[in-house]
Amino acid sequence: MTAWSNRFRQAGKRITFVPTMGFLHEGHLSLMREGRKLGDKLVISIFVNPTQFGPGEDFNSYPRDFERDCTLAEDAGVDIVFTPDAQDLYPKGFDTYIHQERLPGHLCGLSRQGHFNGVMTIVAKLFNIVVPHFAIFGEKDFQQLAVIRRMTKDLNFNIEIVGHPTVREPDGLAMSSRNSKLTPAQRDAALSLITSLRNARRSVKNKQTDSKQLIDDAIELIGSHPETEIDYIKICDPETLDDVSNIDRPVLMALAVKVGKTRLIDNMILTPDS
Ligand code: PAJ
Repeated sequence: MTAWSNRFRQAGKRITFVPTMGFLHEGHLSLMREGRKLGDKLVISIFVNPTQFGPGEDFNSYPRDFERDCTLAEDAGVDIVFTPDAQDLYPKGFDTYIHQERLPGHLCGLSRQGHFNGVMTIVAKLFNIVVPHFAIFGEKDFQQLAVIRRMTKDLNFNIEIVGHPTVREPDGLAMSSRNSKLTPAQRDAALSLITSLRNARRSVKNKQTDSKQLIDDAIELIGSHPETEIDYIKICDPETLDDVSNIDRPVLMALAVKVGKTRLIDNMILTPDS
């Protein structure tokens, strides 16, 4: 992989990288299409990274379909699909993880202990192997994007991090590889996530400034659907991810909800009218 990259870098080509865990959907493909425009060569990785899954999480049952992914990637104009082996990336004796002090202490980091250490470690390793000029990440995983931006700056990776808006199903559900695990009834219940975010956005436009009220409304709506279990619903500063109680500037509303056994996340920026 690195030899391939070095060859094109030396020829003056710009390399874009889209890391994924596979089971590709339109969200991933949209990142790839942006990648095609950004650089001359497009690399994606498909690797279900064991170190970002906690005990009892869905590492073993994470959906996988490598053949289908390769066809989709080829159609999206991907030059290289990099699929490392876990034994190669984490050989016996592997003992080094990246830790970040502040951002992982919020949102998903609280319920998924060690998750972002695993994400940062794999992304840093992939950055070192792929040596891209650009790397694209989705805003659907807003906290992940923030953590990666911070890490890239702090550890002097010479890579431009590009954020890409969340891609949704026609009815608004944020696309996710995990959606494939929802039953039709759970798929219906899952719509309460985007409905809550849209309701909050409307309330903020209508001069509601009290985060607690918006969060209570979302808890009520999501809780009214069967099989939902709220992990968190937060309104926070988009940079620091610290809670914001009075909405007097653009804020991030982020939520994580288990629907059946499937954990879903979504988020939206709420902007008060000036
Ligand atoms: P994965 O969940 O496969 O997502 C790969 C990339 O696609 C991430 O940047 C994610 O934010 C983006 N993405 C997923 N669904 C999206 C949607 N509906 N709209 C826009 N972008 C979307 O995120 C990971 O894998 C892993 O943590 C990884 C970064 C690969 C490290 O293992």
